Amino acid sequence: MSKEGYGLLKGKKGIIFGALDDRSIAWRIALACKREGAEFVLSNAPIALRLGTLNALSEETGAPIIPCDVTSDDEIESLVDQTKEHFGGGVDFVLHAIGMSPNIRKKKEYTDLNYKWFQQSLDISAISLHRILHHIDGKGGLNDGASVVALSYIGAQRIFSKYSDMNDAKALLESIARNYGSRLAKNGIRVNTVSQAPTKTSAGSGIKNFDGMYTFAEKLSPLGNPTADECADYCVTLFSDLTRKVTMQNLYHDGGFVTSGFSEELLDDLAHLYTEEK
Ligand SMILES: NC(=O)c1ccc[n+]([C@@H]2O[C@H](COP(=O)([O-])OP(=O)(O)OC[C@H]3O[C@@H](n4cnc5c(N)ncnc54)[C@H](O)[C@@H]3O)[C@@H](O)[C@H]2O)c1
Repeated sequence: MSKEGYGLLKGKKGIIFGALDDRSIAWRIALACKREGAEFVLSNAPIALRLGTLNALSEETGAPIIPCDVTSDDEIESLVDQTKEHFGGGVDFVLHAIGMSPNIRKKKEYTDLNYKWFQQSLDISAISLHRILHHIDGKGGLNDGASVVALSYIGAQRIFSKYSDMNDAKALLESIARNYGSRLAKNGIRVNTVSQAPTKTSAGSGIKNFDGMYTFAEKLSPLGNPTADECADYCVTLFSDLTRKVTMQNLYHDGGFVTSGFSEELLDDLAHLYTEEK
């Protein structure tokens, strides 16, 4: 990948939600968007901004930071107003890279969920996409032909037990992307989810046995796990004009994991393991 990029997002303006530290997928996407010529605002929850890490990305990309807890209608409305004021109009792309499960954080098993926390998982990780689209569209904040991408995980389709209630949150997120995508299509606006492979980030490492999930996916995927920077390159294409008719899709960015049954490497490893055990 050339350091100069391809100018794919020249003249485009966007909102990037979810950059926390330099491992965050959203952080890597922000750098790729900058490389491709985009201007954007960065947003995260006020509590996350207290860490102060986002300032470095803001300085590097020249993007202002606008705080917003995505479970609050008032804060989203204010973010949309401030963004419109900053750009003097609407945006061409939105990245939703937001996820959090209090149940996973507090190690509650799926069969023993705290329902208040379950609602928070759904609210933060999935319903927030609906809220953002509702307020931004309502305020005329999305330009015709805009592209919205939310990051998902294959737990939406298959059971990964340690991913607990986030499996449900991702299924809802993908459904909201399809449903809202069908309503916004009249203005050429696209809404898609990108189902990214396990990636070593702050949210990722919060999951029990994450390293095992990461290694399993790495060994099963013919192309191996994509990095956050590779995810960023893919998202850039979705924000660009090269993908104008791609909408209401869940797009796997996983090195071929989703269509793989077994890999020779994994089979050899298991054969060795079980032979040794005997
Ligand atoms: N890391 C992985 O293995 C992986 C795999 C597939 C998909 N994803 C998804 O990618 C996205 C980004 O996650 P990441 O892995 O980069 O981790 P991350 O921890 O860097 O990002 C998660 C972000 O969500 C933000 N957030 C949490 N609650 C919020 C709220 N109420 N309001 C606003 N923002 C809030 C956090 O502050 C953080 O910036 C998430 O949707 C995650 O589920 C991650």
